[in-house]
Amino acid sequence: AKNVGILALDIYFPPSCVQQEALEAHDGASKGKYTIGLGQDCMAFCSEVEDVISMSLTVVESLLEKYGIDPKQIGRLEVGSETVIDKSKSIKTFLMQIFEAHGNTDIEGVDSTNACYGGTAALFNCVNWVESSSWDGRYGLVVCTDSAVYAEGPARPTGGAAAIALLIGPDAPISFESKYRASHMAHVYDFYKPDLASEYPVVDGKLSQTCYLMALDSCYRQLCKKYEKLEGKQFSISDADYFVFHSPYNKLVQKSFARLVYNDSVRNASSIDDAGKEKLAPFAALSGDESYQSRDLEKVSQQVAKPLYDAKVQPTTLIPKQVGNMYTASLYAAFASLIHNKNSELAGKRVLMFSYGSGLTATMFSLHFRDGNHPFSLANIANVMDVAGKLKSRHEVIPEKFIETLKLMEHRYGAKDFVTSKDSSLLQPGTYYLTEVDSKYRRFYAKK
Ligand code: ACO
Repeated sequence: AKNVGILALDIYFPPSCVQQEALEAHDGASKGKYTIGLGQDCMAFCSEVEDVISMSLTVVESLLEKYGIDPKQIGRLEVGSETVIDKSKSIKTFLMQIFEAHGNTDIEGVDSTNACYGGTAALFNCVNWVESSSWDGRYGLVVCTDSAVYAEGPARPTGGAAAIALLIGPDAPISFESKYRASHMAHVYDFYKPDLASEYPVVDGKLSQTCYLMALDSCYRQLCKKYEKLEGKQFSISDADYFVFHSPYNKLVQKSFARLVYNDSVRNASSIDDAGKEKLAPFAALSGDESYQSRDLEKVSQQVAKPLYDAKVQPTTLIPKQVGNMYTASLYAAFASLIHNKNSELAGKRVLMFSYGSGLTATMFSLHFRDGNHPFSLANIANVMDVAGKLKSRHEVIPEKFIETLKLMEHRYGAKDFVTSKDSSLLQPGTYYLTEVDSKYRRFYAKK
């Protein structure tokens, strides 16, 4: 199989959202902390009738329908998620309802979990399958689905929710440059979910930021090294047209790209002009640790990076800023933003992706765009996703209502024997929603 990669995408996020400006005021945070400090505009959340299973049912069915894919044509289905609803039964098995109805039960794959990285693990599994001797000629399907909710406190505004589906196969408009890939994995307690009675993580915010940036540096250095060995020339920011980052909140994305600029400057790469190198020279001798602590370096490198950020990163930021951290779906929502914004200009371009999951696991990998043929063309993908339409039709709620929902969900998490309001009034036709969890914890969904 040639040019294996992403043939098609679709995205779903809940229609309910809260404005970060309103949340800021409600929480008594200083004005601008969430909007400028974190760089976030708005945050989506699941109402009591939505969860990671309903969102993934919705997005899978939508993708199959809109691209005209016969459910029998799916041979592997992989889900990435860190939202635990059941410690044994995979989300993938819930999705099998769609395929069983069409007589297809011959589908490999289960769920992958490690914080926000599970979607990338699922994606690699599917791509590897299509490239392997066990491939049977059918499509792979990857689903990233998460609801990111935090306990009251500074992490709460960095929540979000969404599901993304990616169709995988050969002759793709978005193909993997599999040789340009590097990982960094280690044992750290930066963000984890040890309390199985709660949906909320235990999080060391500052540590998670540093771990993210250290993993980024390590992946970038390894990737540069591998590229140089293969191609016999230096790799720099100039060799990729766009950079897509896992996006817990936009400020970290700004800092991440600035970090790559700092790396390039230390490596004396051609991507940084003389003026930029001069500004960054005073920081070249900092140790790794010092460089993560230096506020001056952060400021100067973001300044030097600004024009490059505007060209190579800004087009990827729309959905993460509007929807929030979608955990496993976050990186792919940033990628979807790029296709939404730039689909007609992407052919021939290269994008570098950075996936990070706390704990920690991280990979940087490279994708290459071609126009592709209908229905798997970049223009049609943008059309099907209808990002602008979905953002516009959302329903803003006040912070009090958002918090009331979280309180109710704290009770419902892990509970049995309840029926939901079954209120689907905010949902678009075709959306799945939760109706009941019975006395044996079995979950039931309906479709609007
Ligand atoms: N106007 C403008 N900016 C402001 C204002 C204001 N009024 N007030 C604060 N800020 C800035 C701060 O200077 C800071 O920016 P800086 O880092 O560039 O200096 C930013 O807003 C955030 O303020 P902090 O005081 O650093 O925020 P706090 O520590 O309260 O919380 C954090 C931020 C740690 C990110 C928290 O939201 C969190 O723990 N989130 C979850 C963890 C997370 O997402 N980690 C990322 C990687 S792991 C993952 O993906 C889950």
